Amino acid sequence: FKGVPVIKTLTGKRIMITAGPTYEAIDPVRFIGNYSSGKMGFAIAEELAKRGAHVDLVCGPVQIKIEHPGVYRHDVVTAQQMHDKCVELFPNTDAAIMAAAVSDYTPANVSDNKIKRSSDHFNISLKPNPDIAKRMGEMKKTGQILAGFALETDNEIANACEKLKKKHLDFIVLNSLAKAGAGFMTDTNQITIISKENKQTDFPLKSKREVAFDIVNYLETMMV
Ligand code: CTP
Ligand code: CA
Repeated sequence: FKGVPVIKTLTGKRIMITAGPTYEAIDPVRFIGNYSSGKMGFAIAEELAKRGAHVDLVCGPVQIKIEHPGVYRHDVVTAQQMHDKCVELFPNTDAAIMAAAVSDYTPANVSDNKIKRSSDHFNISLKPNPDIAKRMGEMKKTGQILAGFALETDNEIANACEKLKKKHLDFIVLNSLAKAGAGFMTDTNQITIISKENKQTDFPLKSKREVAFDIVNYLETMMV
């Protein structure tokens, strides 16, 4: 996009975005996490800020940085912390994009001390984490736009549509894992956007930066 002037179409808008994984402690030195790099969420945050939005980026543990002065970064570790930060920020936003790979479960008990090795089987009991996107869907006021992501390995469209409905989203971005070069740890992504009217828009395999551009364009059409 070099040399293309950016039109600040989102000046005065406040947008929240979640990104990255969450880490759920097992003991002082171990956790349950996932392979999310945060790249997709960060690319969206940057694109929103470029267009003049005030961006609240709520992110789990990631290895990447963001420099744009329009991006306000809120670092969290656990799903519960991400939930609490989102509950605090969401009422003052015009839109939210839930791009984090939130751990669905967390250890029921966290050991204060490092768990010792033994020759027995070892089980970790897990309890469910809050569904942050669903909570935002319940908090959503007229005029606020809420978007989510879905990463599926099978029945992609049907599963994504179900999540869209259950979480009261305005649209959902379906990440195809079936295509090479899409999903976690990659620099590219292949998405399909499904609106709450069940209209599907397919996009070709692109860099995460270009995908962010498409997603923000889509969001903008709903924000007039
Ligand atoms: N999400 C969230 N909080 C959670 C789990 C998911 O906010 N505890 C959000 C994700 O950020 C994403 C959307 O919900 O925008 C869908 O996440 P996904 O993991 O695909 O869906 P789940 O509802 O957790 O269902 P499952 O993992 O069983 O497919
Ligand atoms: Ca999940």
